[in-house]
Amino acid sequence: MKIVVLGATGTIGAKITEHLQTTGHEVVQASRSRGVDAATGEGLHDAFTGANAVIDCLNIETLSEKKAVRFFSKTSHNVVRVARRTGLTHVLCVGIAGAADPKVNAANGYYKGKAVQEKIYQASGLPVTVIHSTQWFELIDNLVRRASVGPVTLLPTMRMAPVAADSVARLVADCAVADPPSGVQRVAIRGPEITTGVDMAQAILAAHGRVGGRRPRILKQVPFLGKATATGGLIPQDTIVDDITLEAWLGMASSPT
Ligand SMILES: NC(=O)c1ccc[n+]([C@@H]2O[C@H](COP(=O)([O-])OP(=O)(O)OC[C@H]3O[C@@H](n4cnc5c(N)ncnc54)[C@H](OP(=O)(O)O)[C@@H]3O)[C@@H](O)[C@H]2O)c1
Repeated sequence: MKIVVLGATGTIGAKITEHLQTTGHEVVQASRSRGVDAATGEGLHDAFTGANAVIDCLNIETLSEKKAVRFFSKTSHNVVRVARRTGLTHVLCVGIAGAADPKVNAANGYYKGKAVQEKIYQASGLPVTVIHSTQWFELIDNLVRRASVGPVTLLPTMRMAPVAADSVARLVADCAVADPPSGVQRVAIRGPEITTGVDMAQAILAAHGRVGGRRPRILKQVPFLGKATATGGLIPQDTIVDDITLEAWLGMASSPT
């Protein structure tokens, strides 16, 4: 099959690309650095022509509701429009478990953007698969980097069931090469353990001596993303439970963070 991966240079896009290629599929690796801009629509038509499916792994790093909603609505509208024109038979989107729930996204502008993205795909009338993933182990580095001032790191209180991005990528790749659904299909995946961001950061720090390129001396959590995020709203109920634990992932991760 020929599959377009939008955001192929990103964390999950690169892993999905690898899974697809090693199982013998052709991948169109699309991102701005490869001449495709999903926000303006530039290059989308050429990238989609002749493909069977597109996987949206696009991202913008922002906590601003305005920026996130603008980015995810522009990109998903463009993907839907060009997918219809070029006759794609399956659109897949990497979503965040719980992010579309108003109780969860009330204090999170980025999640509001993700909620809009899901809504646009689900209303598109195209065969759509939304893969609802919990937070990846890989996310913690980024959270720590963004939430640190000198030796102090204040993470949001997040109760979560983190999963290895590679396991999510394999699931997304498998969904992309399977028969498309007749309407909207939702698949959820989580990791085997329930933990918090601060506990994960401490475990990574203990294992690697660094987390997010830092050695925080004070590592605390504050519930600034709201009660639902702090109390389990990010943990899906009806879900695939992957078997890679944080300890196993730390053993696999090749370089210190
Ligand atoms: N991190 C988590 O724990 C987690 C959990 C569940 C779901 N997700 C979702 O997974 C998705 C992918 O996240 P990620 O961390 O893998 O992303 P990432 O590493 O930040 O990569 C984003 C990708 O999007 C591309 N991109 C950005 N703007 C673009 C544009 N206008 N046109 C074309 N390409 C563009 C980037 O390449 P260029 O810069 O070259 O354009 C890059 O390839 C996100 O939607 C996120 O919400 C993340």
